[in-house]
Amino acid sequence: MKNIKICIGSSCHLKGAEEVIEAFQKLIKEYNLENEIELYASFCLNNCTDGVSVMRWDEKILSVCSKNARDVFDREIVPYI
Ligand code: FES
Repeated sequence: MKNIKICIGSSCHLKGAEEVIEAFQKLIKEYNLENEIELYASFCLNNCTDGVSVMRWDEKILSVCSKNARDVFDREIVPYI
C-alpha cells in the first residue's frame, strides 16, 4: 500500500484541498486502486505558496487543484504505482 498525503493546512484548505481529496478519492475508485493507494490528510507541508501540496510516497507535487487533479493523477501518480 502506498500513501498519498494531501495538505489540509490553512493555506491549502483555502486553495481547495477538500476538492482535491474528493477528486483523488474518485480517481482511486475509477482506476480500482483501492488496494494500492491510501489517501491521508496532512498538516502543512511547508509549500504554502504553491498549494495545494500533495505528497506522493516521499516526493512533493505542488500546485494541485480540482481542475488539474485528473491530469496530475494520470501523470504523476498512476505511472509510479
Ligand atoms: S498549508 Fe499546505 S503546504 Fe502549507
